[in-house]
Amino acid sequence: MKVAILGYGTVGGGVADVLFENSEEIAKRVGEELDVKYILDIRKFPGDRFEAKITDDFNAILNDEEVLIACETMGGLKPAYDFTKALLEKGKSVCTSNKELVAAHGPELLAIAKKNNCQYLFEASVGGGIPIIRPLLDCLTAEKIDEITGILNGTTNYMLTKMDREGCDYADVLKEAQEKGYAERNPEADVEGYDACRKIAILASLNYQKTVHYEDIYTEGISKITKEDFDYAGLLGKNIKLLGMCKEIGSKKYAMVAPFLLDPENPLYAVNDVFNGILVHGNMVDQVMFYGRGAGKLPTASAVVSDIVEEAKSIGKASDIVWDDEEVALSDKGELQFAYLVRVAGNVNTHDFKTVFPGAKELNAEILAGEFAFETPVMPEKEFLDRFEKLSGAIKYIRIK
Ligand code: HSE
Repeated sequence: MKVAILGYGTVGGGVADVLFENSEEIAKRVGEELDVKYILDIRKFPGDRFEAKITDDFNAILNDEEVLIACETMGGLKPAYDFTKALLEKGKSVCTSNKELVAAHGPELLAIAKKNNCQYLFEASVGGGIPIIRPLLDCLTAEKIDEITGILNGTTNYMLTKMDREGCDYADVLKEAQEKGYAERNPEADVEGYDACRKIAILASLNYQKTVHYEDIYTEGISKITKEDFDYAGLLGKNIKLLGMCKEIGSKKYAMVAPFLLDPENPLYAVNDVFNGILVHGNMVDQVMFYGRGAGKLPTASAVVSDIVEEAKSIGKASDIVWDDEEVALSDKGELQFAYLVRVAGNVNTHDFKTVFPGAKELNAEILAGEFAFETPVMPEKEFLDRFEKLSGAIKYIRIK
């Protein structure tokens, strides 16, 4: 069976490697060999082991009836969206690691796949090498899932782990994550939480079978997290993780991305380096956790290739993933309840923080001269923000999960 790879970057290169290295195992599972016939890229790769397969002619792939499956590992919306649409319209199955495209156009592309008796799969779009989409769609089908919370970005988890353990400088750790092939082309997508936001939008949409628009999700990244924040977190016996979450309370649905303080009892506390962890809470099964490498060439490629295998076994079968384009109305995150770590300028003995936040507990050590920190009781975020605004010398806050 002939396969095309669109985009010969980190993930596309990994897909070619996985298909080549594990060709025997994969052939056994599919029932026939998978052969990469084309690799689409505008760049040349002289001396590359797959050089002969590289082309810059998308139409050659589109019009080749032998090619039944294409994996889109280009990233970004353009031209990935047009290429994917054209391939699906021709009845060729497409799989992808492109969370940006899936979050923006998932329902439309799935509808095209369904109409043309082919598949659009995107296991690698969330959690890198972790199987999460198929388990959610095929295994947790007896559940009413009321919460999905995850460390969904490998780059930022790598950075936070290094900052916590080694007190490393933010810019240095970002550079390391880029060198390891974890970061997006524009690392702002990682550090400002946009990547995690798209991933939780995909998981929430699949869970609700309707569309959670990523633009509606409150998103805060890690660019303002400092070494001192980890020192304060340490005083509370906690660490700091960037979480994406969607949660259903009664008839209301919420989604957000933000850094949180976690305590060691939380299974996500132990998810370090480039690893991601996704906690799914169902009303019958309770908690299920998915864990593995959330970024990187071969883990992500492995998830893409698992989709290729699935598609190879489903030739001529219409996609049955339910993801309607009807919008999910998210409720105001101000209604969600958290405790908060607050940093404030001033002297702990003379400051009026206990008047503004009755029941607050100060942290018993000085991390930086001229400031102190306290932990608030649990309260709705809206109430917290009203009080925080009234606090003299307020520096910053971090939510506590
Ligand atoms: N930049 C992404 C991350 C790649 O670090 O998680 C995997 O989606």
